[in-house]
Amino acid sequence: MTKIKLFLILIIFLAYSTTRSQAQTEIEKLSDLIDYLTKYPNSKVGFLTQSLYESVRKVLPKTISPLFVDNKNYLMNGVINGTLVAALTPTLPDKRFQDNLHMFSSNVITLYAILMSPDHSAEQVHGNRDEALVTYDLAKAINAAITQMQFDGVDVELAKRYGPRQLVQAYTCKSDNGSASFMLPNRADAKGLLRTIIDESRIKVLADGPYNWGNNEGNYLTDPPVGFYPDYLSKLVDILGKLAGPDGVPYGEMRIERVYSNSTHFPWYWLFDGTTHISEPYFLLDSAYDGSNRPCNTDDDCFLVESKNKTAELRENCTADKHCRYYERPRITMLRASCTTFGSDSIFSTKKFIYNNGGDENKKPDDNEISLLAYILIISLSVLSALLLIGLIVALVKRRRAPSSRSQRK
Ligand SMILES: *[C@@H]1O[C@H](CO)[C@@H](O)[C@H](O)[C@H]1NC(C)=O
Repeated sequence: MTKIKLFLILIIFLAYSTTRSQAQTEIEKLSDLIDYLTKYPNSKVGFLTQSLYESVRKVLPKTISPLFVDNKNYLMNGVINGTLVAALTPTLPDKRFQDNLHMFSSNVITLYAILMSPDHSAEQVHGNRDEALVTYDLAKAINAAITQMQFDGVDVELAKRYGPRQLVQAYTCKSDNGSASFMLPNRADAKGLLRTIIDESRIKVLADGPYNWGNNEGNYLTDPPVGFYPDYLSKLVDILGKLAGPDGVPYGEMRIERVYSNSTHFPWYWLFDGTTHISEPYFLLDSAYDGSNRPCNTDDDCFLVESKNKTAELRENCTADKHCRYYERPRITMLRASCTTFGSDSIFSTKKFIYNNGGDENKKPDDNEISLLAYILIISLSVLSALLLIGLIVALVKRRRAPSSRSQRK
């Protein structure tokens, strides 16, 4: 009887240890993750934002279940407690999580920019013709400010302060003399939205949220918001106020007024109608644009998207839920994008099960060796403990049967 019970316990223990070692796959690099997700379809992968998911969906199997969590610390908790196989964030996780995680590059460099409405042209038929809303001068000033900021190294300094951050210096307007290489208008001559901003001493900014993405992105739930993005924008607007045309008269200090939306119908039309002047600096350059999302009753309320002549006009569609939508196009063909504000190498985090005690990384055995070693170890341990148990029980039984001999020895 006892032997059968022991045998059963041994079998259960062995079965348990094998299933456990299978679930505890170490995912240490992108190819491991892709292999794992191919082997276990419908695995949950967490993303900080929808657009981050869009930026890497081509490198991952199509069968994954993306989960969007707008708080980076919750995301990391999800990885560590096993709810998520991996999580993707534009920057490294907080230091306190790092010991328990494998972190590796997604091999996708993400570029960010400030978005504005385009001015009307043959190519941008949906752009503004309204003199008060054109962005030609504003875009020059914004680009001059971004370039000056990069020239002064302010972005790198902020990245250090709000680190850990994998800032990729991918600039589109690099210049050896900062803002001086832009032909800026004099304060008195500024037109369109730059005129408005100077006259009102404020800039209205289209913002996603408000969310708390953590300090090394930005926490917009506090007043004022704190973190990398909020500081980036403050510094940028400071520089903007100090810019000047050839007459040297600065544009003047201005304050930031954020206009938030967390709607799935993101209100890009706010950039067209003057509700906002520019977007936040954290918008992805390579994302899709699928309409202005202006509220509408019929297609006539929506923007033109192409017009060769009156008979070959293309217009956004007024959808059943009364928003102007359109089939996807690259953002940069429909909006005016500034010089890149910053770039990042998005990072996947996965759970670390094995610790190598700070040993030499290069001496680590490879995955097959680890699982083979673990397997041998588990079996030998199980056999050993079973033998010990049997030995112990046999010894106990013997003792019980011979109580007299023990007392005799005393
Ligand atoms: C795991 O973490 C996620 C995200 O923080 C959380 O929603 C979930 O409740 C946690 N699950 C367990 C079992 O702790």
